[in-house]
Amino acid sequence: MSSKPIYVLNGPNLNLLGERQPEIYGRLSLEDIEAATADEAKKNGLEVDFRQSNHEGELVDWIHEAGRAGCGIILNAGALTHTSVSLLDALAAVTVPAIEVHLSNVFRREPFRHVSYPAQAALGIIAGFGVESYRLAVTALASHLASSQPLHHAGR
Ligand code: DQA
Repeated sequence: MSSKPIYVLNGPNLNLLGERQPEIYGRLSLEDIEAATADEAKKNGLEVDFRQSNHEGELVDWIHEAGRAGCGIILNAGALTHTSVSLLDALAAVTVPAIEVHLSNVFRREPFRHVSYPAQAALGIIAGFGVESYRLAVTALASHLASSQPLHHAGR
């Protein structure tokens, strides 16, 4: 499919997965989630560039980079989801499709987590399925990319 990778971008505190509030986020580490995401991408003929940062500006820079060098974005912005106009503006500034993911079902949690800024520039949101949220986002992005790409006919 695409020769460009999916940029899978993870925000603040997600480096602590596995030890951080496991009753909410589960016991898998971010490395485990990276492996599952890369595996799902491979099944769909895609690759991932999987990154994590605790810094909003770095995530903004990576979204810009994904706009040039990626085929799409899967974003778990962590708590920045609920506050960051900068991340929304960065997603709006690039033309590659983006899917927002969350491990937890943010709509079952505190009211401040019911607001998402990046969602306004996303194709859709997948939340509440733990590591499966990432796998589902890969398959959703893959099928979106496949349906929005011009067909290549044999011999042309
Ligand atoms: C999260 C949900 C956010 O509300 C929270 O701040 C996180 C993780 C999730 O994946 O469930 O850091 O994005």
